[in-house]
Amino acid sequence: MNSKKDIWLNDLQRRRENGPTLHKASYSECKDSTKSVHAGQYNDPNTGALGTPIFQCSTFYLNDASYKAIEEGRGRDEMIYSRYGNPSQWSVQEKLSALEHAESSIVFSSGMAAISSTLLALLDKGSHVVSSRDIYGGTYNFLYEDLYRYGMSVTFTSPTNIEAIEAAIQENTKVLYFEALTNPLLKITPLSDLVALGKKYNLRVVIDNTFLTPYNVKPLDLGVDLVVNSATKYLNGHSDLIGGTVSGSRKLIDTIWPQMLKNGGSMDPHACFLLERSLKTFALRMRTHNDNALQLAYFLEAQDTIKRVYYPGLLSHDQYDLAQSQMKGKYSRND
Ligand SMILES: Cc1ncc(COP(=O)(O)O)c(C=O)c1O
Repeated sequence: MNSKKDIWLNDLQRRRENGPTLHKASYSECKDSTKSVHAGQYNDPNTGALGTPIFQCSTFYLNDASYKAIEEGRGRDEMIYSRYGNPSQWSVQEKLSALEHAESSIVFSSGMAAISSTLLALLDKGSHVVSSRDIYGGTYNFLYEDLYRYGMSVTFTSPTNIEAIEAAIQENTKVLYFEALTNPLLKITPLSDLVALGKKYNLRVVIDNTFLTPYNVKPLDLGVDLVVNSATKYLNGHSDLIGGTVSGSRKLIDTIWPQMLKNGGSMDPHACFLLERSLKTFALRMRTHNDNALQLAYFLEAQDTIKRVYYPGLLSHDQYDLAQSQMKGKYSRND
């Protein structure tokens, strides 16, 4: 099925810059700890104040450059209105892109806003999604209760059995949507196999990486098209905001942006500030989470009163080998 949207996605030749960005500094050669501190940070050139200010404004003065950009369909690269874009969003988006190895990212008001906008942007009436029976409840509800209202459909299958996933693909399938590590039973989706299926059937592969974060696996490096996160969890890590992210190629993210404008789920500048602050300690926090979780899993497994512990870093986990090869951190011995 070749809809108008496919033609646009696959054939548009216009060269796109990474970003949008506030400045040209690149941290692509740095490690995650350095990127999480410096990438995207906007230091005020007038005062020298260190750290991105909170740009608490709804709208921006328009000038000739902004009007021209809007006319040419480059509205995403200009400051127009804070639902469309805001320096606080751009700054944290750039940090996320550096951590995800993405050309572009969007931050949303929640993980569910990121997930629903991403899927609605990729799907047309009549199209079908293959997803997992092991999936976050809110995502399940959106796929199960809402897709059919737009004339779309979903099949839920196993996240670990690639043959079952292939068998669920239909003529009208457009998207494979899975969690890299499932909520709550910690099953691992074999990402390279899923990407191979996506290529074989010309499908978009979208991965929710909330439970692992780009510290433990960077799905885009494995060929996944788009990675979504609930930033509410580890990315923020301070339990003081709700947020979501999507990252991928500039071309794909540019197709999600108009959907975000329509759904209205952009991230508030103050939440952007909090998220950027949190990401500065991202690598440190994730290393400690991994260490502590493994110690806890060992401890729990040693208790007579506990029947089974589901943790991919334990030898007893039935996907232990996949955890070793697919993930970094204390899921593997390479940290
Ligand atoms: C794996 C996963 N994805 C998405 C979400 C939704 O994120 P939010 O609560 O930020 O909308 C959650 C929330 O628990 C989650 O666990």
